[in-house]
This record gives sequence, structure tokens and C-alpha cells, in this order.
Amino acid sequence: DASDIEKGTYPHYMLKEIDEQPLVMRKIIQAYQNEKGELEIAEDILNVVKECDRIYIVACGTSYHAGLVGKQFIESMAKIPVEVHVASEFSYNMPLLSEKPLFIFISQSGETADSRAVLVQVKEKGYKALTITNVPGSTLSREADFTMLLHAGPEIAVASTKAYTAQIAVLAILANVTAKSRGLNLGFELIHELGIIANAMETLCDSKEEYEKIASEFLPFTRNCFFIGRSIDYFVCLEGALKLKEISYIQAEGFAGGELKHGTIALIEDGTPVIALATQENVNWSIRGNVKEVVARGANPCIISMAGLETDEDRFVLPAVNELLTPLISVIPLQLIAYYASLHRGCDVDKPRNLAKSVTVE
Ligand code: G6P
Repeated sequence: DASDIEKGTYPHYMLKEIDEQPLVMRKIIQAYQNEKGELEIAEDILNVVKECDRIYIVACGTSYHAGLVGKQFIESMAKIPVEVHVASEFSYNMPLLSEKPLFIFISQSGETADSRAVLVQVKEKGYKALTITNVPGSTLSREADFTMLLHAGPEIAVASTKAYTAQIAVLAILANVTAKSRGLNLGFELIHELGIIANAMETLCDSKEEYEKIASEFLPFTRNCFFIGRSIDYFVCLEGALKLKEISYIQAEGFAGGELKHGTIALIEDGTPVIALATQENVNWSIRGNVKEVVARGANPCIISMAGLETDEDRFVLPAVNELLTPLISVIPLQLIAYYASLHRGCDVDKPRNLAKSVTVE
């Protein structure tokens, strides 16, 4: 049928969509570039971002995880305070809003009911809303004041992959263009860094056997698996754990390294797989300290670090990229590990049980 044709030679949409990520990065660079070769966003969007005193990001699932990374970008580059909220909680736990709030809805499908419920509330109050979505003309796009598109192409697999990295890239562009127009000097050219990212993604997508090995060594029989990281790595750990639980049904959780000692370390047993991300220089030694603590309790560690920060104990070293943008590449091994874990456990990779691609009920 038609869907078989679209999948081409790939056994699963998820694998195809993981592999499309370098191409999507290049499409995004193109789509948000002006004739002078500079990154650009629509002027009305730039104005509304510059005028607001606080941004509220609202999203669900993987899109929420992209929002957590986006907060870091917007605060560190554009110096605008950001809150990130799970849509389903936001409606009845609405925080005290600032004087001039701007709402950003992140949604691959643009149809998620929980996010839409918040958008309706926000519009009733007369606030401005921007939707970041992959689907032009989707409900969230039509009902918001502004839209930024992901240009990721249709995402079919239930587990979101290329939409996540596309969301992060678009949020980086939003933050970067805003920063520049506020006269803030960032000391790097995002457009150039995103090009480096696209190449690094390609390198990672070419190392599939390595992730298949990691998945088959660490995950075929395990009941659970933990992902630990600090700072921006922690947000990627949340996404890595979500990917693994969605498609392999392994109980997986992402934790902040520093929180281990406050509870989670009690769960570590002989052989418990712990995947640690170490891409940030300022927390490199503290996250490695956490790995030592879990190993002392019997954990089976897998450290994924970044070139320049690596040590002999690392299982995989990512190519060096701009430190702020590491989520764009550190998530790829986690996506592939989840993919192979699902495959080896005989699960339905593209259509995991109990889940839907887009949840249109609250
Ligand atoms: C569902 C999907 C997830 C997705 C979430 C939010 O739960 O299974 O993959 O992250 O919805 O979807 P959205 O389209 O709003 O990004």
C-alpha cells in the first residue's frame, strides 16, 4: 500500500525518520534564512517576542521535552524568562501570569487536545500565542496568532524523533534571532553551528551497529533502565527514557544526576542499566561521580560523552558541537538505542501498544 512506498527500503518509519534528521536540519536552515544568508524569523513574531516580559511554553510528551531545552536557549541567548508547562496540568494549575505574557505552543501534530484546551483559555483572556508545529493549517496553528513551521516532513512513527530535533532547532533560531535583534553578542553564529550539527547527525546515523550493540548488551532482558544527566543533558535524559518506555515497554526514567542520592539510587541493583550523558564541561566531573556511585551499587553503566570531555570509561563519544546545542545530537544515540531495544524485544516499533500519534481527547 501507499505507506509501504513511503517507507522505502526501511523496515520501520521510526528508523527512516531518525535518519532524516540531518536533512531536516538543512531544510530548517534554508527555511529560516534570508537572502543575505542570515537567520531570520517573521517580523511580527520577532516583535511579539521582544515585547513580552515572560514566555510560557505549553506542550505534551516529546514536545514538552523540546520545550525544556527551548527554555535554556531563550533564557541564555535572548535573556527572556521562560516557564515550561505540561498542557494537561496548566488548565487547572494556571500560574500567576506576568504582565505581558507570550504563549508558545509546541506540537508536532498541532492537534493535541490538552494543548488546544490551554490555547482556548489563553485566547479568551486576550493573550498572544505562537504555535510551533510540523503541520501547516493544523488546529493549533489556525487558532494561534502566529505559527513557526518545523519543516520536518510527515512523521508517521508514534515515537517522535525528527520532530523533536526540529522543534529544538526552531527554538534555537527563535532565541538566536531575538538575541541578535536585542543587540546581544553570543560569540557564535548559529547558522554555522547548525551546519556542523547536521554533519554530526549524519556521522551518528552512520554508527547504527554501535547502538544496536549497546541495546543488545544492555537491554534485552532488563526490567528497567535509568538515564542520568545534569544541566541540559538531564532534559535529553527525560526524552531518552520516554523513547525507551514508549516502544520497548522497559520501565525507564530520566533523572538529574544530583537527585540520585535523594531517592533513586535505592533502585539500583546488580546489573541495572544506567545510561549517562556527559556533554557539558561544567558538570562533566559531577556526572561521572554519579556514575561511580551507581557502579559501586552494581549498575551496568553506559556513558555517552562528547569529544573533548571523554575518558577511557566512555562507551560512545559524540562529535564536538556547540555546547548549548548538544541535545540535537545527544538524543540520536538514545533514539537508536530505544529503536533496537524495541526490535530485539519483538515489539511493534512504529505502533506501540496503548499509544496514539496524536491524542485528540483531553
Ligand atoms: C502523543 C504522541 C507523542 C507526542 C505527544 C504530543 O502522546 O504519542 O509522541 O509527543 O502526543 O504530540 P504533539 O503532536 O502535540 O507534539
